[in-house]
Amino acid sequence: MKKYIIANWKANKSYDEAQEWIAMFSSLIKEDSAVQEKLESDALHIIICPPAPFIFSLANAVSEMKNITIGAQDISAYEEGAYTGEVTVKSIEFGAGCTLLGHSERRSLFNETEETLAKKVALAKKYTIDPILCIRGTQDTIHEGVAMIAYEPVEAIGTGKNMSAAEVLEKKKTFTLPQDCIFIYGGSVNEQTCTEYLQSDEIHGLLVGGASLVPETFLGIIRKV
Ligand code: PGA
Repeated sequence: MKKYIIANWKANKSYDEAQEWIAMFSSLIKEDSAVQEKLESDALHIIICPPAPFIFSLANAVSEMKNITIGAQDISAYEEGAYTGEVTVKSIEFGAGCTLLGHSERRSLFNETEETLAKKVALAKKYTIDPILCIRGTQDTIHEGVAMIAYEPVEAIGTGKNMSAAEVLEKKKTFTLPQDCIFIYGGSVNEQTCTEYLQSDEIHGLLVGGASLVPETFLGIIRKV
């Protein structure tokens, strides 16, 4: 079964730091035959979600690498027009293959509503960018057309208090997930905590925040796949 390991850099890194990260990451990946084999055989897909200004340079850097793609962290709910400062899906469609949507930080700090999210999901689909919808629990709507869901309990994000895989699987039963949906867990995943999720056939991958900021640490998780 294919596993997805997704890096969410959030609002971290300068341009130079992003270039250093991807240079180091690429060289470590190329030297690692076990990881290479998993990428080549479609057992593993790595997605890196940097801040929007770095999407294209990173997409160029990974363009020759199978099963490593770039994602956005969010897109505008507007398609285009007089919306100063917005990052539209149209502007990133040739750099990003997917986008996170509805991250709990966007919901709580930027008042993202379900109405806004429905528009973003529809726009992502229109531009054939896969939406990865982040949900905090049953209170969040699973919008139509979403095929990837990242379950991220708020109390586990950035706290070091990851939810056990057993508990994640219990919670999973309470969600009405679309058929054949890719189900990902996120929240304080690191090299030490990742194994139990990766061992489950019902958890298809991991969304990694803090532990994705250093290439060696992120690769530590990838090597456990
Ligand atoms: P964390 O963040 O890994 O730092 O807990 C995960 C996320 O917010 O996507």
